[in-house]
Amino acid sequence: MYKRDLVSITDYSLDELEDLFKLADDIEEHPRRYKSSCNNLKLATLFYEPSTRTRLSHESAMIELGGNVIGFSDAKASSASKGETVSDTMKVMSCFADIIAIRHNLEGTAMVAAEASSVPVINAGDGGHSHPTQTLADLYTIRKNFGRLNNLKIGFCGDLKYGRTVHSLIEALLRYENVEFVLIAPEELALPKGLKNLITDSGAKYEEVSSLEDALPELDILYMTRIQKERFTDLAVYDRLAGVYVLDKEKMERAKEKMIVMHPLPRVDEISTDVDDDPRIQFFQQVMCGKIVRRALILDLIERGSKEPIKRYDDIDEAEVGETCKCSNPKCITHFERGLKMRFKQGKGGKLLCAYCDSKIVEE
Ligand code: NCD
Repeated sequence: MYKRDLVSITDYSLDELEDLFKLADDIEEHPRRYKSSCNNLKLATLFYEPSTRTRLSHESAMIELGGNVIGFSDAKASSASKGETVSDTMKVMSCFADIIAIRHNLEGTAMVAAEASSVPVINAGDGGHSHPTQTLADLYTIRKNFGRLNNLKIGFCGDLKYGRTVHSLIEALLRYENVEFVLIAPEELALPKGLKNLITDSGAKYEEVSSLEDALPELDILYMTRIQKERFTDLAVYDRLAGVYVLDKEKMERAKEKMIVMHPLPRVDEISTDVDDDPRIQFFQQVMCGKIVRRALILDLIERGSKEPIKRYDDIDEAEVGETCKCSNPKCITHFERGLKMRFKQGKGGKLLCAYCDSKIVEE
């Protein structure tokens, strides 16, 4: 058996995801059966970026399985502030913990962490790149509401450029049959091109619109997001875009009776509190689903492992690509982590991609 990590939602096949959701159902139904499953085991939560839900959700999940929790919630309190690399921190933490959840502001950090650690690693968010455990919570919420993960029309509204939860959920839903995407965002916050190509390449359909009102009546799911202020390099642009979409009672009247509204939270002003009593609002249930499915994930990673190693990069030699070729994403960990070996993968049409953050490789 090989160590298993959750770096990307695609690390789990659809069958494995379904097994995970069944385990989550069982844990929810019979919590006492699982209350000692992680006795004497430790989860380390290494949070280099702010979080309320994700960190405490992992920690509660571990405690409910009988395990213990160690870690930090501020990079300033870790040796990163003294210049330690992520890889070194992970090798050290592997001596202390049985499983590690990591959140970092640099994209691709989760893969670096998984490669360096000898215990399972959970990606709890790497910059604007991905957030697979939120995706597990989202899929589990959709499955509970609709009893299926296929044949759905989902609208993503708000910050589709920096919203990592959007990126991971799209990647996940593309693998299910007949899921249609409506992308509701101002031009400046449109979904990155690479992800739009991924939708088209998978044979799924998407449309880009600017009006939430017009899109609403068609949707089974509305996935609202916060405009991610902290990821803007120019705050004047943020100020112009903040508050551009607000879901309120009046707009909710245009939606289907069985539509659901999801949000990874925290919300700022994009959903008015006057809709909170509407039964179609599902974001607090989503938080509960997150804790339940994370219990299943922790158990699965610790107990089951993987029959085969997960292949995250192609066998492409760094020397072959050339030293002047770099990842085009300035927020990628490859520009910051000392001694890190570049890893590549072949994208559609032979394009060379950075295996850590999925961005294009370019010649400098
Ligand atoms: C999100 C995140 O951190 O990416 N929240 C979460 O994990 N539940 C969304 C956000 O910060 O807007």
